[in-house]
Amino acid sequence: MKTNIPSPAWAKVDLKKVPAMKVPAPGPKSKAVHARCTKYFKGLSGQVKLFPVAFESGHGCTMTDVDGNVYIDFSSGIYVTTLGHCHPKVTEQVQKYAGQLMNCHDFTTEIKTRLMEKMAATLPGDLNGFQLYDCGTAAVEAGLRVCRAATGKHEMISCFNDFHGKTLGAVSLAEYSAQVNGPSRVPGSHMVPRPNPYRPHWTKADGTIDTDAYIAFYEEYLARGTARMVAAFVLEPIQGWGGSVMPPDDFLPKLRALCDRHKMLLMADEVLTSMGRTGKWLACEHWNTLPDVVTLGKGFGNGFPVTAVCVREPYKESIEKISASSSYGGNPMACAAALACFEVIEEENLLARATHLEQIALKYMRGMMERHPIVGDVRAKGCLMGVELVKDRKAKTPFDAAGKLVYQKAFAKGLAWIPAGHILRMSPPIVMDDDTLIKGLEIIEESIGETEKELGYAK
Ligand SMILES: Cc1ncc(COP(=O)(O)O)c(C=O)c1O
Repeated sequence: MKTNIPSPAWAKVDLKKVPAMKVPAPGPKSKAVHARCTKYFKGLSGQVKLFPVAFESGHGCTMTDVDGNVYIDFSSGIYVTTLGHCHPKVTEQVQKYAGQLMNCHDFTTEIKTRLMEKMAATLPGDLNGFQLYDCGTAAVEAGLRVCRAATGKHEMISCFNDFHGKTLGAVSLAEYSAQVNGPSRVPGSHMVPRPNPYRPHWTKADGTIDTDAYIAFYEEYLARGTARMVAAFVLEPIQGWGGSVMPPDDFLPKLRALCDRHKMLLMADEVLTSMGRTGKWLACEHWNTLPDVVTLGKGFGNGFPVTAVCVREPYKESIEKISASSSYGGNPMACAAALACFEVIEEENLLARATHLEQIALKYMRGMMERHPIVGDVRAKGCLMGVELVKDRKAKTPFDAAGKLVYQKAFAKGLAWIPAGHILRMSPPIVMDDDTLIKGLEIIEESIGETEKELGYAK
């Protein structure tokens, strides 16, 4: 695949003017707005608490706060604005339908029909049954219901450290269920470890990860730990929230075969990884694996809240059995936004662009690893990138204190981003130009260097 695709001109950042920190951030206006808002708005994420800046606008690959500071965007909102903030075509389409028809329940519209046709023609294999929602979690919940309806079974297997949303069914698939739901979890929810090449549970004689050992464990667990009523194995093909963790290359094909052997469905939660984020429409395509049920979100509407559950031909009639419709799912603005995203990715050749940015980032980050002892691992697929910070490379002890400092220092230098704990998660828009990507990585490296000095880890 040709990958040296130029970035679209409208999204080019003028690095003479960006980043531009007019006042130390968070500045006085940010602090004042934040104080007023948080009198009432209480459920802030950890990142906002650590850097309480208030934003005013976004354009392409930059964001501006209420004090006039301009940042390079290394998070795309939260993996959402994959095509850059306020992409002209997406904005135009949402504006058009905001003035024409905002909602008509789930009656058919021409724009929804065109979106369905585009999805069926673009997504891999026979993924051609769809239902639309307004958040990723709702799509996940619908996916679980479809898996149950299609198989007549009720148990679900999911993976340690994956994330699927915060309602009862979605959170029952995740480790922090108790934190969100208290003592209750949907009956029949099971969790298993998944292969993380940097932190393997099982290795082969040569020290590399042993995917077969994971599959063998799943076989045993299915026989002994379940009621043999497993509807689906549900996973994120690449862990996003968990820290941009890539599977070993043989994992998804072997998991697909396991699902077939046990007559359970494979459900891929691609809310975070779809729509070009990793350089393909679906991340599963990197490993030639076709799931039976797929969820799309985040970049699906590039900021407009629209998500989908996608189901393969043999199971799609099950969508009818789950009372699938919702108030906002498939409203004309949402459909227009999602259709525009498909068209923009094709017109601007952005799958190739994401892969091009991956190659630049990997080269830079591997150099960073040589220069900085606290960098334990680096990884990227398209514009889904991660740097793992450790206290000690041999023991791989997570270095949360360093992660927090690097986050705050880089933000103060003009990088809007959302790392988590010791993992520096990066998800720049796939329209970013090369120089801006490198500038963002340089800001991170400078912040890592300062952090190493401060914590006594400098080489
Ligand atoms: C893989 C995955 N699934 C589901 C969700 C939930 O999506 P939403 O926050 O839109 O409900 C997320 C959100 O981060 C996610 O990353």
